[in-house]
Amino acid sequence: MELTRRDVLKLAGGAIVASYVPAVAIERSPVGYLSYLPIRRLQPGRAEAELIAMPALASVAGTTANLWTYNGTFPGPVLVVREGERVRVRFRNRLSEPTNVHWHGLHIPPSVDDPFLMVAPGETVDYEFVIPNGSAGTYWYHPHVHGRVAQQLFAGLAGAVVVKGPMDYSRELRRAEEYTLVFKDITLAAGGVAAHTPFDWMNGKEGELLLVNGALQPTLSPRRSLLRLRLLNASNARYYRLSLEGHDLHLIATDGGLLAAPVAVPELLLAPGERSEVLVQLQGVGEFRLLNLPYDRGTAMMGGMHRNAGRGTLATTQTLLTISSSGVARPTLPRRLCVVEALAPGAASVRRRLVLSEGMMMGTGFFINGKTFDPSRTDIAGRLGDVELWEIENRGRMDHPFHLHTYPFQVLSRNGVPEPFVAWKDVVNVRAGEIVRLAVALRDFVGRTVFHCHIVEHEDRGMMGVLAV
Ligand code: C2O
Ligand code: CU
Ligand code: CU
Repeated sequence: MELTRRDVLKLAGGAIVASYVPAVAIERSPVGYLSYLPIRRLQPGRAEAELIAMPALASVAGTTANLWTYNGTFPGPVLVVREGERVRVRFRNRLSEPTNVHWHGLHIPPSVDDPFLMVAPGETVDYEFVIPNGSAGTYWYHPHVHGRVAQQLFAGLAGAVVVKGPMDYSRELRRAEEYTLVFKDITLAAGGVAAHTPFDWMNGKEGELLLVNGALQPTLSPRRSLLRLRLLNASNARYYRLSLEGHDLHLIATDGGLLAAPVAVPELLLAPGERSEVLVQLQGVGEFRLLNLPYDRGTAMMGGMHRNAGRGTLATTQTLLTISSSGVARPTLPRRLCVVEALAPGAASVRRRLVLSEGMMMGTGFFINGKTFDPSRTDIAGRLGDVELWEIENRGRMDHPFHLHTYPFQVLSRNGVPEPFVAWKDVVNVRAGEIVRLAVALRDFVGRTVFHCHIVEHEDRGMMGVLAV
């Protein structure tokens, strides 16, 4: 059964129609080298796809290079699925070393999304899970074998996941022209990808080329004047402080899905691992650059840590992408998006404190509560159904983006300042010296999973712990 998008809209309201939505119909012409994962939908509510981790000569930044890819493309193909669907991804490892797939941000059982699983070279595994209702949003997938994440991710292994829900078919959001933008930096060397230096293991590796969907400063030429941009930071360590010339960004979704209503922001910080969705009302005919503004996350130099010293990229603004607008009517924004439950840990709820710190000498380690990662240790034992209060304190000298698997959370406050709106998150940037309070809902699944810094070099060097529910 093949339906065009127009057919689907005509039939909207019929409940079964949803599972037949063709995955690729939404984006008119992807920016850069973005591709989509072919999906078979042989039965209603079931989606099947194949993913192969493999070395490949891939298109990147106007040339080709030997990268590590999913299905031969960089970035990996976008997986588009629907709320309520049962998804089975047959994964094969054709790399020369163990890897696995982590479904970053999806609320699925740790027994399936298992960071301890290793898929040996040549092996095939099936990842099978149900996309929870209410989780429509932008997620991603990448490797998660401890000690090898930084190199595998930097070599190219990352792809976006788009979950569609009822709101995506609302009149307001259907008016928007939709694009997925994967921000991933890279340094090419000798026909491949540059190796990590000792500094990279300290700071996290940043690439020289700031790519959007694998392309250097691509142009987006929309036909409509309302855009919906799904933004993913799939970089090892680079932060993106995004601003669009002449425009506000209207934030409609964070890591774990939609907000209650759009929030207008002049700029947006995306730490490694984070996603956001924004609406943009294009203001007339013209070229507008999406900029990466300077952001100082605190990085190491020879002889010690400095803020705002030495690294050229800290002090300059870069162009990531140009939007070429033919500007027609100015469309209105949706006033409401969905109902977002606000998590409220009660006075009796369990409280945890996690202190992030760095070794005194360069590259000597990264710690949570003074310890480096040990997969056999349980750092936090939680109880299914509890809403816990977590306090993440950064006693280091650099920013650390804190990430928790399986269980989405909400930020309550940063350094005592209440968060301005309720949002589902799975990565939160914790600035040096900052204390961030989170409400964590340990719902639906038991099992062992992990939390860690999403500067993946820090994760590989030990800034990770185990949560057992
Ligand atoms: Cu995207 Cu455990 O990570
Ligand atoms: Cu994750
Ligand atoms: Cu870190």
